[in-house]
Amino acid sequence: MFGAPARFEKEGNLERVTLVEGPRPLVSPPGKVYSTSPREALSSELGDVVLKGPDLGIVFAEASAFQFARELGIATPDFGVCEVPGEEGLFFCSKKLRGRYPVDHWVGNGLVSNPEVIPETIAFDVWVANWDRNIGNFVEDAEEARGEGEGEGTKIFAIDFEKAAVLRGEPDRFTINGWPGSKFWPLEDLGRLCRQYALPRGFLEKIKAIDPQHIAGVLEQIQLDLDLAAVPWMQTSIDLLTSRAQGIEKLATEAWDE
Ligand SMILES: Nc1ncnc2c1ncn2[C@@H]1O[C@H](COP(=O)(O)OP(=O)(O)OP(=O)(O)O)[C@@H](O)[C@H]1O
Ligand SMILES: [Mg+2]
Repeated sequence: MFGAPARFEKEGNLERVTLVEGPRPLVSPPGKVYSTSPREALSSELGDVVLKGPDLGIVFAEASAFQFARELGIATPDFGVCEVPGEEGLFFCSKKLRGRYPVDHWVGNGLVSNPEVIPETIAFDVWVANWDRNIGNFVEDAEEARGEGEGEGTKIFAIDFEKAAVLRGEPDRFTINGWPGSKFWPLEDLGRLCRQYALPRGFLEKIKAIDPQHIAGVLEQIQLDLDLAAVPWMQTSIDLLTSRAQGIEKLATEAWDE
């Protein structure tokens, strides 16, 4: 079905999560304002979760990016969708990991057990045209790192793909195609921190090997799991993911040369 099936397999549908407490606003560090006002809640299936939505663009982009990221081997928190009692629509939720220190603390001290997740996430951002990766968009979970017996260091996880233009259906496909790869290099402190990572060539090959039919299948399943009759930009997302997978080397090189 696709070039490297052993390394790229769909792993089930979106999990439906039930909230048992909350939601309440997610408290941000002093001076920091989150763009989407995420909330947190307690769920039966995933424990504490962070909620985003119900804007369809946000929910569809997050759910599909988390799904593709997981299939490509990028560590992300467990995720799903849920209803919020008394509110319209479905919300995207991710398991709330500890995230006690920002990622620069772990990287700066050489304490990350899976450092490849950082350049691979940047390459993934290039593919889905996510232009908003910042220092808050990797979180850590010390317990998880110990549990998986990864040896030294702390495992970190990628979050926040909501500005993935290819999955959001905005702006239009011509504008997205006109953006250079450099637009997707991480912002500010994270961008500087990431200078140390080489272009992840093996990971680019994984993206290139994705079959267009598989891309369509994943996105259509998410549409179903979100109870939607249609996603207006579905075909644009499929077309752009397909063409950008073929052009990923050039785009990613532009990001790394930024
Ligand atoms: N699953 C999670 N586990 C732990 N912390 C999380 C999780 N999801 C979100 N957070 C925390 O919430 C913050 C905001 O989440 P997110 O980045 O997804 O929202 P946003 O509105 O897009 O924020 P920003 O405008 O900073 O991009 C993150 O920087 C992180 O600190
Ligand atoms: Mg964001």
